[in-house]
Amino acid sequence: MDGPSGTGKSSVSRRLAGRLDARYLDTGAMYRVATLRVLRAGIDLTDSAAIGASIKELPLTIGTDPGHEIIELDGEDVSGEIRGDAVTKAVSAVSAVAEVRELLVALQREITYSAQRIVVEGRDIGTVVLPDADAKIYLTASAEARAQRRNQQNIDEGRGDDYDAVLADVQRRDNLDSTRKVSPLRPADDAVIVDTSELSKDEVIDELYRVVAHQITTSSPGGAR
Ligand code: DC
Repeated sequence: MDGPSGTGKSSVSRRLAGRLDARYLDTGAMYRVATLRVLRAGIDLTDSAAIGASIKELPLTIGTDPGHEIIELDGEDVSGEIRGDAVTKAVSAVSAVAEVRELLVALQREITYSAQRIVVEGRDIGTVVLPDADAKIYLTASAEARAQRRNQQNIDEGRGDDYDAVLADVQRRDNLDSTRKVSPLRPADDAVIVDTSELSKDEVIDELYRVVAHQITTSSPGGAR
């Protein structure tokens, strides 16, 4: 499951995994943990070599139960801190570093291949991490719809109401994620594109379930792992 931020990707991926009786892997959370590590080490975000060196050893634990999130750095629960402003602002820079991607992609493959069935969510899953996946979905929505949802989430969680700033941030991150040299955000050639702009969460889940069922029944047995 790939796509830009603010499409509702995380919550629908998690719910879809539950409905498919599958495990769930949030690869964005892994990039966020790496970013937290870099920030805590006080590394300059423009220094790719120092970023790469600092995550050579990344004591990261990530759970795959869709009903129970576990994200730890060196044994410490960091599931809240990695969603904070500081990490969110820095994560595009850290996730653009080749060494970071190499390390995390290897870990993502290891986790995936040890599961019988798993929904893996990110930006480059269908294109780079798991090109042989049995089903590929690219979730998208207009920048305005995504900014609207994120702004509403900020209001609901007491972080204030500033639609214009949220829209500018959505556009800035889209631009960074889709123009970076390593694994730019784009749909895989064989992904089904689902636009969530006009759909409720329940409608999205129903649509994804249908798409996955169809892709799995039509995919060649050789593609499965
Ligand atoms: O999905 P998210 O917002 O938690 O992702 C955080 C950042 O990590 C986002 O800016 C893009 C990056 N990311 C990535 O480069 N590759 C992935 N497979 C997942 C996330």
